[in-house]
Amino acid sequence: MLVIMILITGATGTVGHHVLELLSTDPLRREPLRAISRQPDRISVAGVDAVAADLDDPPTLAAATEGVRAVFLATAPGPTIPDHDLALITAAVRAGVTKIVKLSAIGTTPESDQPDLGSHAPAGWHAPGERALAGADTLRWVSLRPASFASNALSWADDIRAGRPVINTTGNGAMPVIDPADIAAVAVRALLDDRLDGTALTLTGPAPISVPEQVAVLADLLGRRIPVTDLTSEESRRHYLDQGWPTAVAEEIVGSQLAVREGRHARPTAAVAEVLGRPGADFAGWAARNRSAFTG
Ligand SMILES: NC(=O)c1ccc[n+]([C@@H]2O[C@H](COP(=O)([O-])OP(=O)(O)OC[C@H]3O[C@@H](n4cnc5c(N)ncnc54)[C@H](OP(=O)(O)O)[C@@H]3O)[C@@H](O)[C@H]2O)c1
Repeated sequence: MLVIMILITGATGTVGHHVLELLSTDPLRREPLRAISRQPDRISVAGVDAVAADLDDPPTLAAATEGVRAVFLATAPGPTIPDHDLALITAAVRAGVTKIVKLSAIGTTPESDQPDLGSHAPAGWHAPGERALAGADTLRWVSLRPASFASNALSWADDIRAGRPVINTTGNGAMPVIDPADIAAVAVRALLDDRLDGTALTLTGPAPISVPEQVAVLADLLGRRIPVTDLTSEESRRHYLDQGWPTAVAEEIVGSQLAVREGRHARPTAAVAEVLGRPGADFAGWAARNRSAFTG
């Protein structure tokens, strides 16, 4: 007998691991779960069919999508997103998958990779996948377009533990950063319920917050001063090049950060509260639950 499943990609990643955990205990879920990773032994949620698959290796995706009804599609950030999205969507359509919930990014539209639109880089990377979903006659889809993740603050953890300043590359620009667990909770509703089909949801936290304000929240939590070093856009570009990023990627990162510096995407949306029936977590809530990452 063919078992119909839900497939989670990026299942070891920032949002995907929450999607897998939430689905595994959701009382409304009827179908078994399959999750893919290039190292499936890293998936430890009980009862999940953990499968080795690589978004760069189409035959593994054909096997992973067999017998699947719905897919949570999460790809690692960067210029590989279009190829990875299209590889998974192609395999899913061939396998008869009927629904894909895609983790996209704020500011994305199906056209946001057109150079004359001046979109920030992630919006360009996610556009081909959104276009492919909209153009696939046999698929129902939901696109989740989140603001920056609160968990990006984890990249400061080493510096904070060592007493070094946090590097701020976005000035006083504020963004309503979102708790990845809230994105995952919305994704679960989109996978299990048809009411969101055909919608693109811009997901944000409840209030805009700048990097210096996030650092102040962490300083309060840890009970000590955390210094901040502000970099201009030019200094930021040099910083990323010194870290070994290729020039094109450094340019794209700095371009994305310009959007935050200039206050684009600063306005919170009501989407998380509308879907979940409760407000999303603010940065302080996320930080309190992840305090241990900044200590020790
Ligand atoms: N961070 C933000 O602020 C932000 C904001 C808006 C949107 N987004 C979007 O959210 C998505 C996730 O970003 P993230 O930074 O949180 O990344 P992430 O989910 O932590 O990315 C790593 C995940 O991608 C999987 N992966 C990477 N390469 C793979 C491959 N070749 N085949 C199969 N799986 C592969 C990894 O699986 P294994 O290593 O286990 O194979 C891991 O589960 C990105 O598309 C990004 O554009 C991020």
